[in-house]
Amino acid sequence: MASARLRWLSAALVALGALCLLLSMHGLPLLPGEPLGFRKEGRFLQLPALDCRRDPPFLVLLVASAHDQLPARTAIRETWGGQRAARGRRTETLFLLGTSPSPAAARAVAREARRHRDIVQKDFVDAYLNLTLKTMMGIEWVHRFCPRAAFVMKTDSDMFVNVAYLVELLLRRNRTARFATGFLKLHELPIRERRNKWFVSRREYPWDRYPPFCSGTAYVLSGDVASQVYRVADRVPFLKLEDVFVGLCLAKLRIGLEELHSEQTFFPGGLSFSPCRFRRIVACHFVPPHKMLSYWKALEASPGEACPAE
Ligand SMILES: *[C@@H]1O[C@H](CO)[C@@H](O)[C@H](O)[C@H]1NC(C)=O
Ligand SMILES: *[C@@H]1O[C@H](CO)[C@@H](O)[C@H](O)[C@H]1NC(C)=O
Repeated sequence: MASARLRWLSAALVALGALCLLLSMHGLPLLPGEPLGFRKEGRFLQLPALDCRRDPPFLVLLVASAHDQLPARTAIRETWGGQRAARGRRTETLFLLGTSPSPAAARAVAREARRHRDIVQKDFVDAYLNLTLKTMMGIEWVHRFCPRAAFVMKTDSDMFVNVAYLVELLLRRNRTARFATGFLKLHELPIRERRNKWFVSRREYPWDRYPPFCSGTAYVLSGDVASQVYRVADRVPFLKLEDVFVGLCLAKLRIGLEELHSEQTFFPGGLSFSPCRFRRIVACHFVPPHKMLSYWKALEASPGEACPAE
């Protein structure tokens, strides 16, 4: 009787030890009431007309967008998103959307998708708190339909992206795998004040610090990393902050973040425009549609030779 209990106890200890080892290998501690993992579900309602099998693009730009942001999508299509190549490499811009409860908005998006064939949409409610679902939809699309894209950028519809300079820096950097870059946030803590836009409760995220992550305004992953993020996502605690969530996936994959350039090129806090300055940046936040068009025209009109050499 006693020996049976002892045997049971030692078996339990071995199992506990194995569990601890497994958890320490995978980084995150297990806590009671740990948040649930990301759930891979939902179906695609719209897919873009983009054949990635024969001629995979060098760079796919995924723009998180909302139903009422048609002016921003139009401005992006007429500027950086309309650019189909840079330095001889193919680039493609796609918009990410969820569903709207308004039938009129739903019809308008279906029309827009038929017309432009650049919309990826799944059947989740389009809401700020569902941004992680939106980002993961884009990453799932890359994983399933375009896994040979060399790089993927996730960005937002109020961002100006200098696609040509981004391609130039990616080529110069000459990295093809396990590469993640953007505006690096290496030591962020969860915000526990309820009124803050980025408030996260201890229930949602019980740990005291965030993993390293890139500002969600614009970040770039090599194609293999996008696929690996999708594969690991259901084993990572779900978080509504999409950029931190991707950081959790990268931490689990043990993929470090790297700078793209020795100079700052990602500007999540915005930057005042000048043609020479914008020739040497990758991404700038807080650019409304009318400025998108005027910046683009100014850049096209100004000769690059007039700018100081890098
Ligand atoms: C997010 O999407 C899911 C699935 O459609 C939905 O049940 C949920 O209410 C949405 N969240 C918000 C905050 O709207
Ligand atoms: C790029 O890296 C590869 C190895 O990963 C190397 O063989 C090649 O020479 C590099 N090219 C340039 C232009 O640095």
